Amino acid sequence: MSESRLRIALAWIGLRLLRRLRPRRRAQEPPAPRRAEPPDALARETPSTPRAELLVAALLLVGALAAAAFVVLYVVRPDTQLLGLCLGGALVICGIAAAFAGKRVVPQETASEPYEQLADERKVDDVGAIVREAGEGVSRRGMLAAAAGLAGATIGAAAVVPVASLGPAVGDRITATPWRRGRRLVDSEGRPLRPEQITEGTVVLAFPEAADRNTLDAPVMLLRFAPEELEMSAARRAAAPGGVIAYSRICTHASCAVSMYRHPLHPATAPEPALVCPCHFSTFDPRRGGAVLFGPAGRPLPQLPLQVNAAGELVAAGGFIGQVGPSYAGERETEA
Ligand code: FES
Repeated sequence: MSESRLRIALAWIGLRLLRRLRPRRRAQEPPAPRRAEPPDALARETPSTPRAELLVAALLLVGALAAAAFVVLYVVRPDTQLLGLCLGGALVICGIAAAFAGKRVVPQETASEPYEQLADERKVDDVGAIVREAGEGVSRRGMLAAAAGLAGATIGAAAVVPVASLGPAVGDRITATPWRRGRRLVDSEGRPLRPEQITEGTVVLAFPEAADRNTLDAPVMLLRFAPEELEMSAARRAAAPGGVIAYSRICTHASCAVSMYRHPLHPATAPEPALVCPCHFSTFDPRRGGAVLFGPAGRPLPQLPLQVNAAGELVAAGGFIGQVGPSYAGERETEA
């Protein structure tokens, strides 16, 4: 066979092979994806049944009852556990009612549409129409609306009633004090106190004569120091006749009664005299106007200015120097 014939034969065989291979390649290619059906633009179901509506109304009524119970308890028996149970129960039950109504009472719609960047008025109208149609298929709309209104009103009342706890304005009750110029200091038996009864190293409790002893600023502590030991302004020293000085018994940190007195017997080694509050150990210096030596108190113990009357008894020379009681907004000083 000549060379040219051999080439022709090989080309013919190659063509035959190519024809046979082509259909096989097509068979191996993955099938073309089928075009998806366009989604249904609006699928709507109305699942509501009288039973479901009744259940929602019953849940709303129970929630309303719980909220109403909160209001009544708040007035009659304000027990925090019961109040929390009622208000929490009302919110949970009404939440369950709303969720159940959303699933089983309100018409269910599945809408698909292209997202538009800007809302136009026509779309807004469409939304309004959809909202109006939300009641479609609900047979007891009036009952459900009444139950929802009742639940909303009682929960609203439960939210508003605690405002009553804000109470009346404080007025001058914080600053009012039974101490007046000339009012005698008496002991727990009501006997007038004299300066000589107050000795160094002791604390004597005193009260205003013929006044309520249960108010915060009634009790005072009486102490005695040598007048030259008092390191304070001339006015304050003048309010401590013969070295007898009076301080409020109420701690300026959180109103505990200052009930400990440290009076060292060995001045060379022991710390200075101090009044100490047992609650958080605020420590006050009675020789320096009740200044804070240690602890969380933010201001000195208020000093009650004293005088001795014609009968030789201790009397108040006026109200306290400083506000009695704990520190609060606008009432926090650090200077003695
Ligand atoms: S109440 Fe006195 S230190 Fe806190």
